[in-house]
Amino acid sequence: MKQFKRIAEIASYLKGKRDSGLTSGFVPTMGALHEGHLTLIRRSKRENDLTVCSIFVNPAQFNNAEDLIKYPRTLVRDLEMLEEEGCEVVFVPEIPEMYPEGENYPLDVEFGELDKVMEGKFRPGHFNGVAIVVKKLFGIVEPTRAYFGKKDFQQLAIIQHMVKTLNLPVEIVPCETVREPDGLAISSRNTRLTGVERSLAPLIHQVLLKVRENAGKQPVHELKDWAIKKIQEDPAFRVEYFDIGDKNSLMPIETWYGKDRAVAFIAVFLGDVRLIDNIELFS
Ligand code: PAF
Repeated sequence: MKQFKRIAEIASYLKGKRDSGLTSGFVPTMGALHEGHLTLIRRSKRENDLTVCSIFVNPAQFNNAEDLIKYPRTLVRDLEMLEEEGCEVVFVPEIPEMYPEGENYPLDVEFGELDKVMEGKFRPGHFNGVAIVVKKLFGIVEPTRAYFGKKDFQQLAIIQHMVKTLNLPVEIVPCETVREPDGLAISSRNTRLTGVERSLAPLIHQVLLKVRENAGKQPVHELKDWAIKKIQEDPAFRVEYFDIGDKNSLMPIETWYGKDRAVAFIAVFLGDVRLIDNIELFS
C-alpha cells in the first residue's frame, strides 16, 4: 500500500494512474476504522481498478472542542487493516497540509434546509466543515467514485447536493449501514460505551424497526411520540431528536403523503455517548 502525507505527491501519483486509464474508488475517513469502513473499501475494490482511503481527523467539522480531543486515534491499527483489505493508496495528511494558515475555504454552495435540521441543528457548523474537507479531498484525489455509508444519511445528502450543485466529476455511491448481529449500527463511538450501555444500545434499532412496522398505520406524530417514549423508558437514554423526514429534502413530514421517501432519524445519548441511526420506512 502506498502512503502519502503531501497533497502534491498523492495528486501527481493518482494523475499518473488516471492517465493510464485506471478508475479509482475513494473512501474518506477520520480513522478509527471498523467493519463499516472496511465494507466501503471492499465495495470500492470490487468496482474500481484502484482504491484510495484518506485518514484525517478534520478539526473543521467539530463544533465541540472536547469531542475533537476525545476522537479515537488508532493510526497503526488502521493502516494494518487497510493493508489486509488490499487498499492500494492511503492519504494521511497533517492539519497544516489540509488547512495552511491564512487560506480561506469558500464553498460556493448553499445547503438550504439540508444543513439546518437534525444534525445541522444540534451541531451548528458541522456540515460546513464536512463539505469543506470533502470538496478539498475530491479535488486532491479526483476519484471516479466515492463511497459513503447511509448511517450518516444527512452527511450523504449534503455531499450529494454539493456534488450536484458544483458539478463535481465524481459518482457518489451510497452504502447500506453495517450493523452488529444485535442490530446496533457500527460506529467508532460504540467503543466508548460501558458494558451495560453496550447491552442496552440495540434498543435504538429495535425501536426503529417497530416504527417501520407501524409506519402508515398511525399518524406520524403519534408514532414519533411513541418512539421517543419507548426509548426514554430506560433512564440511561436521552433522545436528542427523533424525526420522520423526506429522504431528499430531509424536511420533517407530518402525514404519510409521499410516504415512499419517509425516513426515521434518531440521535440519542446513551450515558455521555451520542449515537445516531436511521431507517428507510418504505423501501
Ligand atoms: O464520515 C466521516 O468520517 C467524515 O465526516 C468524513 C466524510 C471523512 C469527512 O471528514
